[in-house]
Amino acid sequence: MDKIIVKGGNTLNGEVKISSAKNSVLPIIAASILSGNKCIIDNAPMLEDVFVISDVLRSVSADIDIDKTSNKIIIDTSDICDYEPCSELVKKLRASFLIMGPMISRFGKFIISLPGGCNIGTRPIDLHLKGFNALGAEVSVGYGYVEAKAKKLIGNKIYLDFPSVGATENIMMAAVMAEGETIIENAAEEPEIEDLAKFLNSMGANVIGGGTDTVRVLGVKNLKGAVHKPIYDRIEAGTFMVAAAITKSKIKVCGVNEEHLKPIIAKLTEMGVVIEVEGESLTVDGTGILKPIDIKTMPYPGFPTDMQAQMMGLLSSVKGTSVITETIFENRFMHASEMKRMGANIKIDGRSAVIEGIDRLTGCEVKSTDLRAGAALILCGLAAAGTTEVTDVYHIDRGYVNIEKKLQGLGANIYRECY
Ligand code: EPZ
Repeated sequence: MDKIIVKGGNTLNGEVKISSAKNSVLPIIAASILSGNKCIIDNAPMLEDVFVISDVLRSVSADIDIDKTSNKIIIDTSDICDYEPCSELVKKLRASFLIMGPMISRFGKFIISLPGGCNIGTRPIDLHLKGFNALGAEVSVGYGYVEAKAKKLIGNKIYLDFPSVGATENIMMAAVMAEGETIIENAAEEPEIEDLAKFLNSMGANVIGGGTDTVRVLGVKNLKGAVHKPIYDRIEAGTFMVAAAITKSKIKVCGVNEEHLKPIIAKLTEMGVVIEVEGESLTVDGTGILKPIDIKTMPYPGFPTDMQAQMMGLLSSVKGTSVITETIFENRFMHASEMKRMGANIKIDGRSAVIEGIDRLTGCEVKSTDLRAGAALILCGLAAAGTTEVTDVYHIDRGYVNIEKKLQGLGANIYRECY
């Protein structure tokens, strides 16, 4: 097991390079199942989640080559013959469920163990299954498994009760070779969905409106292989922007898309952080006096839930009262109790957290409760008095490439220890 040790108080400087988006690459790897040809993903992030979903595909005989030096992933799904991926692997990664749409589309049958919930919520899949049903698949759930059969998928109009990212992606992928037109209404609009649609279209699909609230898919006969370079990771970029703010530093973040960062830039600017975008880079100046703010997480283009923990860490040492409302997941405040061990003054009331900023957090041993919570605790440690030990770092490695090395490169006193 690893832990990350942070000695607080250093000012950060210099620049940090952002990796490609985890939440773009995972559905794109799943989508490669749709064509029996070779797909190549360039500049892929070498992350635990990427390795796990690749193993899930290997468990149904896909051939995947991951080159960690060139950050290239070569996927050949021509030999897929099994229709039931390894349950142990599927349970390790909820996003494994994203292979269901492509498998039903290409093979007309599939069985997969129900993805677990996780710390942040029950993570239901009803909207995914509603979409598969609407396209003509016979879906049954029982004994911890989901099974789907479909002689032929027929396009249909599907309204999502909630703009679910995963459901939008899974239904989009199931629809690309369905007969006729599929319209997904109240679709999720996250940039990663637009990126997936771009990849599908480069395979020969006909997806219109990916990344908007209405996605139209005109079914095609088959798809070919494609080469794709995913978008930058807007959540990793946001995490480093908060690192500058919490340490009262000025740094440059290289590898950003201003449009995708709009909600994060807006809220940090409202606090008094000075952000200047130059093309695909931006400078973040957190050296001024910061003000408390209120934040409500919403589906994109609202403020992202994946940045909620990081902002709670920042607001914990900003004088005044801030309120964070988490509307996406029902249990995404577990990091609050860890921050309170560092002296934070946070009161949780249902979906809201009231934060009274204190002068300075104090370092201690804290536990990563999920991917973003772990990253947030590292940020708290950067500014805290004394030393902070963040355990259960495997959560963080799921979504951040070498987070401690990138922070060391900015001048943080941080290292990883095996225990
Ligand atoms: C994606 O998860 C991301 N993961 C999450 O990032 C992100 O937090 C989330 O979208 C919201 O933006 C990936 O893209 C791999 P949802 P996903 O379906 O698709 C409800 C990270 O830290 N819902 O949009 O699972 C659900 O309960 C991770 O990188 C249903 O009710 O999220 C939740 O309240 C964490 N029925 C809400 O929608 C369904 O069938 C959002 O879930 C599906 C979802």
